[in-house]
Amino acid sequence: MVELNVNGIAHSVDAAPETPLLWVLRENLGKTGTKFGCGAGVCGACTVHLDGEAVRSCQVPLADAEGAEIKTIEGLSSGNGDLTKLQQSWIDLQVPQCGYCQSGMIMAAAALLKATPKPTDDDIDAAMTNICRCGTYSRVRAAIHRAAG
Ligand code: FES
Repeated sequence: MVELNVNGIAHSVDAAPETPLLWVLRENLGKTGTKFGCGAGVCGACTVHLDGEAVRSCQVPLADAEGAEIKTIEGLSSGNGDLTKLQQSWIDLQVPQCGYCQSGMIMAAAALLKATPKPTDDDIDAAMTNICRCGTYSRVRAAIHRAAG
């Protein structure tokens, strides 16, 4: 058994310690807001927070996540229907197109804003390495600035 803390809730997971965190989040815990894209650490669709840092969960073995605070898109807001300013900015600016990569984008953006509350365009470009096949990058950038404002 591996003990995980996901969105403030403790879970005992029966999975091999080398299993990628992404698989466990989706298959064992039903946290399907975290997406599988490339499975190779490239696209960022699987981005979650591990102790506040944005990580690509397809590249994190379960053993490395044990004891850490894991946050998924489902745990980003308080859970009583309130959205974070970042999530509201995403809606206000209609950032998503197909939407598939967007939960990873939002998790990466949330980690950026925590570390750098007023990011410049260069800060955003350096931090936001997630891939969007629809090309929503300019709206992603605008939504981050709006949330920071
Ligand atoms: Fe993890 Fe693409 S699915 S980086």
